[in-house]
Amino acid sequence: MRKRIGVLLSGRGSNFEALAESVAAGRVPNAEIAIVVSNREGAPGIDRAKARGIATRVIPSKGLEREVYDRQVAAMLDEHKVDLICLAGYMRLLSPYFVAKFPNRILNIHPSLLPSFPGLESQRQALEYGVKFAGCTVHFVDENLDAGPIIVQAVVPVKDDDTEATLSEKILKEEHRIYSEAVRIVLEEKYKIAGRRVLQS
Ligand code: GRF
Repeated sequence: MRKRIGVLLSGRGSNFEALAESVAAGRVPNAEIAIVVSNREGAPGIDRAKARGIATRVIPSKGLEREVYDRQVAAMLDEHKVDLICLAGYMRLLSPYFVAKFPNRILNIHPSLLPSFPGLESQRQALEYGVKFAGCTVHFVDENLDAGPIIVQAVVPVKDDDTEATLSEKILKEEHRIYSEAVRIVLEEKYKIAGRRVLQS
């Protein structure tokens, strides 16, 4: 049985697209993207999913209490019998209800070397701080923002002439690579969690 991935996104959807590409190319074996859900109308990621013939749903989150909203999303994911949930530019904090419902089955990608620079505009934060190396992180999701055990990271050097745009572009390239790698590790169950450490087996 192929493992079924649900993707939650709010915007551009380039990480979704890279994952879809990896699944199609067999770099994430025995998997399929079962559903792409957006909390925002008009998210380009939804159009990208439609263009690939993948099922999509827009469930607007505006004005809804966090758990009320998350229950709607969880019901949609259950309906599509999803094994793993990938957040890909999903601009919402998850409720404790949602996190508890899918233990160790929710992944997120973040454009910094966590625990440095959580939250928004991480690439700008990294530049302004003056770090010489930036990067990205795929981690399991818990109720805290950009926290949870780290599965894969990639490092990108920061050059003197980097701008927020050039650094973001370099990081994004690595994001597209490591998200698929992390999904493969998790779906193949080739890991164990020891404390905060995700150890590959
Ligand atoms: C990425 O930088 C991701 O790390 C962050 O939000 C951005 C989403 O980009 N969580 P995209 O929608 O996948 O193109």
